[in-house]
Amino acid sequence: MNDSIHHSIDPEDMQRRRFLKRAVGILSVPLAAVFGYPLVAALVGSIYRKSPLAFSKTPGFTAAPEGQPIELSFDYVKTDAYLRQDVVEDVWVIKHSPVKATVFSPICPHMGCRYNWHSKMQEFICPCHGSVFSVTGKVLGGPSPRPLDTLSYKIEGGTLYVEWERFEPGIAEKVRI
Ligand code: FES
Repeated sequence: MNDSIHHSIDPEDMQRRRFLKRAVGILSVPLAAVFGYPLVAALVGSIYRKSPLAFSKTPGFTAAPEGQPIELSFDYVKTDAYLRQDVVEDVWVIKHSPVKATVFSPICPHMGCRYNWHSKMQEFICPCHGSVFSVTGKVLGGPSPRPLDTLSYKIEGGTLYVEWERFEPGIAEKVRI
């Protein structure tokens, strides 16, 4: 502490300083709670990196045509370490009947680009490096090391629910990230 400064301060100023010191002390408790929690959550999150899977309601299935791929989207909450984000995702859905479907991840297994359905050719084609997939997800051409990745789903009362997950690109096996 610097005495030369204190000598030049009047008593009223001293009181104000003491009050400020106390106020900062009191405030540091909730601040520690606010900044301390994400730190702990990040540490715990790094141990349990994979967020738990959950089914997301995916509107549009009831009206979808049978036998043709259709792109449907849904909202879900993405948990990354301590960050929670509302995210919209798309999936490719082929409705086989009101109770049966195939759901493809929209991510190309080669290097993670988004591919498209070309109805005239009846093929999925990835614009990045030209991987081509059949309607069943089989690789017809290009560098993709594996077929399109399917996602788990359930249909309840005519409504489709999709379990969103991502897989390691560039390898022959389907390994969850
Ligand atoms: S990312 Fe799709 S072909 Fe390369």
